[in-house]
Amino acid sequence: MIKQGLLSLLALCSARATASVTVRKTDRGTTGYEVDFKYVNTTASRVLIGGGLQPFSDHFHTTLNTRAWYDPHDYKPGDFYVSFGETPDDYQWPYEMANEGDGVWTYTTPLPSGIYSYAYLIDCNYAPNCSIVTGQLVTDPDLPPFQNVQGDQVASSFQVPFDARFQGTDDISANFDYALPAPAEFRGTVKSVNYSSPGSIHPEPDVHHFGLYLPAEYGRVQGKKYPLLYLSHGAGGNGNDWENLGRMSSIIDNLIAEGHIEPTVVVMPSFYNLDDSLPRFIMGNASTTWELPTSQHIRENYQRYLFPWVEQHLDVCSAPSCRAFAGLSWGGRLTYEMYVNATDYFDWFGMFSPATSGPYVDAEGLAANPALARKGLFVAYGLYDSVFDAGRDVQAALDALDIRFLSRITPFGGHYWNTWQDELWWFGVKALWKPFPYTQRTGR
Ligand SMILES: *[C@@H]1O[C@H](CO)[C@@H](O)[C@H](O)[C@H]1NC(C)=O
Ligand SMILES: *[C@@H]1O[C@H](CO)[C@@H](O)[C@H](O)[C@H]1NC(C)=O
Ligand SMILES: *[C@@H]1O[C@H](CO)[C@@H](O)[C@H](O)[C@H]1NC(C)=O
Ligand SMILES: *[C@@H]1O[C@H](CO)[C@@H](O)[C@H](O)[C@H]1NC(C)=O
Repeated sequence: MIKQGLLSLLALCSARATASVTVRKTDRGTTGYEVDFKYVNTTASRVLIGGGLQPFSDHFHTTLNTRAWYDPHDYKPGDFYVSFGETPDDYQWPYEMANEGDGVWTYTTPLPSGIYSYAYLIDCNYAPNCSIVTGQLVTDPDLPPFQNVQGDQVASSFQVPFDARFQGTDDISANFDYALPAPAEFRGTVKSVNYSSPGSIHPEPDVHHFGLYLPAEYGRVQGKKYPLLYLSHGAGGNGNDWENLGRMSSIIDNLIAEGHIEPTVVVMPSFYNLDDSLPRFIMGNASTTWELPTSQHIRENYQRYLFPWVEQHLDVCSAPSCRAFAGLSWGGRLTYEMYVNATDYFDWFGMFSPATSGPYVDAEGLAANPALARKGLFVAYGLYDSVFDAGRDVQAALDALDIRFLSRITPFGGHYWNTWQDELWWFGVKALWKPFPYTQRTGR
């Protein structure tokens, strides 16, 4: 488990006390903050930092397919990162570590507000091509990922604060401070949980796993049952992604601290390896495939094993009126599946960059299931999101049936973690646990 402090992200008591990632407030350009990476590897001959770290772009040079390629040393207010786009011919990967001798590698860069996931790429000449699959990626031994079993996650992460003097702009607000640690009394706990799920093939036969967030108050109020949010990862991920790559615990802590939501339990399930009907997928295992289970397959498995287990083992309420399902990308598709086919089990649904495909609900479907119009729905996607069309199509289908929902189109948003942090935050501020059907006053 990692609940890291704001400025000191290093593994304080490790034997390699010299290596670290440190976020420093500088009070000067380009962003007001600098990040020092220090990594020890005596056999490497070149080390790039990749595994999630991206070059920057701005909204004048970003489309659904392309981006600029800025080094954050040249950061300008309004710059942001997206994770797609052709490499320019004169490409130069910004994040190259310097060899200080004795196997010590260092790199320092300013970075703007946000979460950054990263891993070290050893003896790699072209960062976008080096990965766990090519065997050139190692996670930071001094800031290990939040994961259940070694190899479940292949990147670590850190968060950089906002400084309006250097990052403020009228163009775009990219202030992610809601994902920094909340005041101590509001900090919940996050951990991995193994549960009994017959047929599961990971982490061991008949045992499956989820990430669990418990609010600070949990366990302190005799007999209290908490509202329950299921929060799904997307393709190529697992239940620890939301914490490891999106720092969901800080986002939920802050939503609670600021009074946007009441203390809520969050279960982050894992939809791969539920049974052996599909190829196994584990991120750190290069030989696994990305073949995806259908949403129906996942839903039926969760209904059979996960939902009853959670109700039995956690102090959570057991009514639809305090239950929600949300997810990103393929998890947004799964959320749509829950909306249509587990309508009565949940009252709120958050589709974040949903990787859906039609046909969507129509008048006939609504007539057969009128409860579809009486739910708390939130549909969000990024302006530069690879599922932009899908998100719009979901919204158009709901509009056509006069089904009320709340919308968020993230202005700097590609199909990536900064977008999903933004979507989770606004889901909490505007939609989650709010009375519905939504009106123009909801969340005002
Ligand atoms: C150092 O680099 C080698 C490749 O040269 C890699 O196999 C090893 O895991 C790295 N060690 C550490 C501590 O990251
Ligand atoms: C990166 O990988 C792509 C696809 O495999 C390949 O076409 C390209 O030549 C590679 N680029 C470099 C610089 O290695
Ligand atoms: C879950 O089970 C796996 C496999 O037995 C084990 O390695 C892991 O430590 C367990 N996790 C927890 C949180 O108990
Ligand atoms: C819902 O269930 C039906 C029948 O069980 C299935 O055909 C459909 O694919 C499921 N999902 C959606 C989103 O309609």
